[in-house]
Amino acid sequence: MKEVQPGIYRKDGKLYTKAASDKKVYGEQHIEFEGETFREWVPGRSKAGAAVMKEVELGLEKDSEVLYLGAASGTTVSHFSDILEKGFVVGVEYSDTVIRQLVELAEHRENIAPVLGDARKPEEYEDMVGAVDVVFQDISQRDQPEIFLKNCRKFLKNGGTALLAVKARSMSSSKTKGEIFEEVKDKVREELDIVEETELDPYEKEHLFLKMKK
Ligand SMILES: C[S@@+](CC[C@H](N)C(=O)[O-])C[C@H]1O[C@@H](n2cnc3c(N)ncnc32)[C@H](O)[C@@H]1O
Repeated sequence: MKEVQPGIYRKDGKLYTKAASDKKVYGEQHIEFEGETFREWVPGRSKAGAAVMKEVELGLEKDSEVLYLGAASGTTVSHFSDILEKGFVVGVEYSDTVIRQLVELAEHRENIAPVLGDARKPEEYEDMVGAVDVVFQDISQRDQPEIFLKNCRKFLKNGGTALLAVKARSMSSSKTKGEIFEEVKDKVREELDIVEETELDPYEKEHLFLKMKK
């Protein structure tokens, strides 16, 4: 088991995080290694996992404070929670049915704060979120970059890391993915410095993963 990034491990070509709870979250495999339990991080189920498989340094530290937009039921949030041994993750999700599983997950893990809210309206949850080291977004909406920038403006510390998973087909069905990715990059460049850009195939089709600094 080799730690390839803070709190992220690789063994036999698979990714793992150290299980902060014995409970399985999405049917992932748990393995024992030197007396500790590790949870497989399945890249086909998580854009952040896919990005790590494609050698992106996420920039998460074990004590990072993270704002996660589009938390859904907590598949990826659960791995962030494993990584953030001394940090925490605030997960924003606007579907009240989907967030139920995230709320349940947070009952077994102390470093997850679920927030039922619309990421388009960060003012609605600003009382629950302070300045964060990392903003991560995985939201399939036409206005993905605008939602992301609004939150980075409000919550991301200067020098902080901004991670955006862009789903081309949610933004336009008539433009090529290349045109869509260029438009997104032009938009985020107005406020952030792009440090890494990676397409997520074969794990996710027509997805771009951008790592930026404020
Ligand atoms: C692709 S899924 C996220 C999967 C999740 N990131 C994971 O890896 O476990 C996108 C999620 O974003 C949520 N979402 C879409 N628009 C939103 C908005 N404006 N505010 C908050 N959540 C939103 C959807 O309900 C959905 O659960």
